[in-house]
Amino acid sequence: MKFFDTQSLKTLPSRERATLINSISGIRSANLIGTRGSSGTNLSVFNSVMHLGSDPALLGVVFRPLTVERHTYANIKDLKDFSVNAITSAMAARAHQTSAKYPEGTSEFEAVGFEPLFRKETHIPFVKESPIHILCSYSQEHLLENQCVLVTASIKAIWIEEKALGHGYFINHEHIKTVGIGGLDAYYSTTLEGRYAYAKPDQSPTKIDPK
Ligand SMILES: Cc1cc2nc3c(=O)[nH]c(=O)nc-3n(C[C@H](O)[C@H](O)[C@H](O)COP(=O)(O)O)c2cc1C
Repeated sequence: MKFFDTQSLKTLPSRERATLINSISGIRSANLIGTRGSSGTNLSVFNSVMHLGSDPALLGVVFRPLTVERHTYANIKDLKDFSVNAITSAMAARAHQTSAKYPEGTSEFEAVGFEPLFRKETHIPFVKESPIHILCSYSQEHLLENQCVLVTASIKAIWIEEKALGHGYFINHEHIKTVGIGGLDAYYSTTLEGRYAYAKPDQSPTKIDPK
């Protein structure tokens, strides 16, 4: 196996180190975060939206160091509400394009070709073609030792395409073709390998109905 320790990682060119470390922990979720600012709507791709707890329903998002203008973060701090929209394979190329540095007055919705959807519950835009819409509200933030910021947010409402829902509210991501992200540029399609029954020490792994 290829081996790196702290010292040899340090000697790697920074871009290569970033690529390696960004993808070492595996495939992450792929979401578009929709916000609203003083100059209009904003949409950006994020691979750090994570589950933090289900009661109360809590999500986390990691923001890069706030050393440059970060429109998504600033808009969330300002209005608190934001939308999280799952990315499907049909959306991946346009979703990736939202990471380009558009000037503040430019809405990524228009720039990359996503139709915004407005719901009566909020003034925040959703991505119409996304099969999962989550309405979140800023709760806390935690400065990490690398100057990134972990924002925690409560889930206020969710909308899920019916075809994604299985028994007991299991969301089958294969049915809605959501993608995952490796590093900062690799989009993976999802295949359900199997679901397993609750693990017990005296029982061997048992597959359960994936529906
Ligand atoms: C695949 C991918 C994933 C990204 N994930 C994050 C992330 O989790 N956190 C972050 O701060 N930026 C992330 N970015 C960078 C933002 O998408 C990018 O900085 C974007 O321009 C932010 O726009 P804003 O200034 O409108 O918020 C990611 C970029 C790509 C290409």
